[in-house]
Amino acid sequence: MTLSAAPSSAAPQAPLAPPSPAVARLPGHIRKLVPAEREVILAHLLRLDPLSRFMRFGGVVSDGALARHATRLVSGDASAIGYFVDGELRAVAELHPLGTRPGKPAAAEAAFSVERPWQGKGIGSALMKHLVLLAQNRNIAELQVVFLPNNGPMRNLAVHHAADLQLDDEEMVGRMRAPRATFFSQAREFIGDIFAVLSSASALQGRMLPPHLRGN
Ligand SMILES: CC(C)(COP(=O)(O)OP(=O)(O)OC[C@H]1O[C@@H](n2cnc3c(N)ncnc32)[C@H](O)[C@@H]1OP(=O)(O)O)[C@@H](O)C(=O)NCCC(=O)NCCS
Repeated sequence: MTLSAAPSSAAPQAPLAPPSPAVARLPGHIRKLVPAEREVILAHLLRLDPLSRFMRFGGVVSDGALARHATRLVSGDASAIGYFVDGELRAVAELHPLGTRPGKPAAAEAAFSVERPWQGKGIGSALMKHLVLLAQNRNIAELQVVFLPNNGPMRNLAVHHAADLQLDDEEMVGRMRAPRATFFSQAREFIGDIFAVLSSASALQGRMLPPHLRGN
């Protein structure tokens, strides 16, 4: 759940990879988040309803803790991708590399937050596929996701992605293998990066305009 590590990212946007059929029917786009989007990420986290916030971080967290989490997310070695609808960030998937462990494969923790009105529409599943691509290109062999045992959607998401589930203390830990990086996986991410930079720059520029000049 990653905050636990310390209680514990409108305009044309290109997907990192071909969207799943379910997401193709949705109005938004998935792209990588850039450091300049800290405020956008924080606004998304603050919009999570209390239960989703609790499920995301495995406990009660303050607005201040969310602000610190948003800062860490854009300033450390984590990566994040977002799902945007009409220029608004509605869901985030985070990839937090875990420290190296002797004799163990490189691993990272994945975490997801989808705003309530957007849950159950296949966005979490689509974000998971993009996150696997990021992990693959970072030579991360094992992707972990930590969630509360009563989190049905997250459990289904993990099972659907062939995760081995294990109850550690009071948390469920799902572990899945990421494939090895290939030229094509790197090319897909690289192309997505170009569009992410262009679209985030355009979105940030739009936010700086007075509302009556924004055109949406
Ligand atoms: C958990 C979460 C990321 C799932 O994302 P989502 O977009 O709602 O989920 P999807 O629509 O992609 O569905 C994922 C799976 O859950 C199932 N599902 C969806 N809603 C469900 C519900 N209310 N109850 C049980 N299963 C559900 C789907 O059928 C799907 O299963 P499948 O892959 O076997 O078909 C999202 O609900 C969320 O952000 N919750 C709050 C934060 C959180 O719990 N984060 C996880 C800890 S890091």
